[in-house]
Amino acid sequence: MAYAAGVDVGSTQTKAVIIDEHRNIVGRSLGDTGANVVVAAETAFAQALADGAIEESEVEYVIGTGYGRYRVTFGNDQVTEISCHARGAVQIFPNTRTVVDMGGQDTKAIRVNDKGEIEDFCMNDKCAAGTGRFLGAAAAALDLGLDNLGPTALKATKPVRISTTCTVFAESEVLSWLGKGKKVEDILWGVHQSIASRSAALMRRVGIEDEITFTGGVTRNVAMVKALGERVDKKLNVSEESHYMGAMGAALFALDRIFASRSPAQAAEAAR
Ligand SMILES: Nc1ncnc2c1ncn2[C@@H]1O[C@H](COP(=O)(O)OP(=O)(O)OP(=O)(O)O)[C@@H](O)[C@H]1O
Ligand SMILES: [Mg+2]
Repeated sequence: MAYAAGVDVGSTQTKAVIIDEHRNIVGRSLGDTGANVVVAAETAFAQALADGAIEESEVEYVIGTGYGRYRVTFGNDQVTEISCHARGAVQIFPNTRTVVDMGGQDTKAIRVNDKGEIEDFCMNDKCAAGTGRFLGAAAAALDLGLDNLGPTALKATKPVRISTTCTVFAESEVLSWLGKGKKVEDILWGVHQSIASRSAALMRRVGIEDEITFTGGVTRNVAMVKALGERVDKKLNVSEESHYMGAMGAALFALDRIFASRSPAQAAEAAR
């Protein structure tokens, strides 16, 4: 049995996924990218190997993706994160037509056809307003951990309307609402709604079609899943794999390469 791996070095977090020849995930890892991107990639891969009790020599092909994909020095090739998120999303949710990836720095909207091929995509340009970083800035201003953001926001009863569109000013707007006596949960739900509205606009640019699969680390935030679902008036596909979708897609491309390199006899043997 050969294994294939995908390493998604994002601006904020690095994810690694190892799959077997049947496309099952057998090892995974998640860690902060930090300042040393090469080390982040190496650590993520080593942890995913350990997670699956797999030897490095058993992994036949590795594909790097994400903003740091060229720093996956042990990788065999690189594929863009747009392609990888779409591939992962279609694998986990085969009826996916729209993919929305919310990461630390970018939000991307992708439209795929019924064969899972990319038809169009767009992303927020050099601005973190609609992304995890905007949430991070609000969390810091409110002294909340990332894990508490979603559950706290869901307690809102009188949401505040956040007007700033800039991450740099998000903190001061949050603080000013606090100063006016607004509740933390009401401010926070307003922040989520503001991001959802910006992300929905991005999705509309590529066309919103059923089914929508939500990927990236922000999928871990229950309030963001709710706010975006309400904004586009549709249920979003989210799973345990959502944060790992880019790495999963990269691993699937790596598996394609393994199969392509085999002789027809070897491929038939592996398929048995
Ligand atoms: N447990 C959690 N609860 C809530 N939010 C979380 C949690 N874990 C991660 N996040 C969010 O996910 C973001 C990171 O997501 P992801 O790993 O997809 O980003 P990335 O791939 O590094 O970024 P990009 O794709 O923009 O380069 C963080 O900024 C944070 O907002
Ligand atoms: Mg990413």
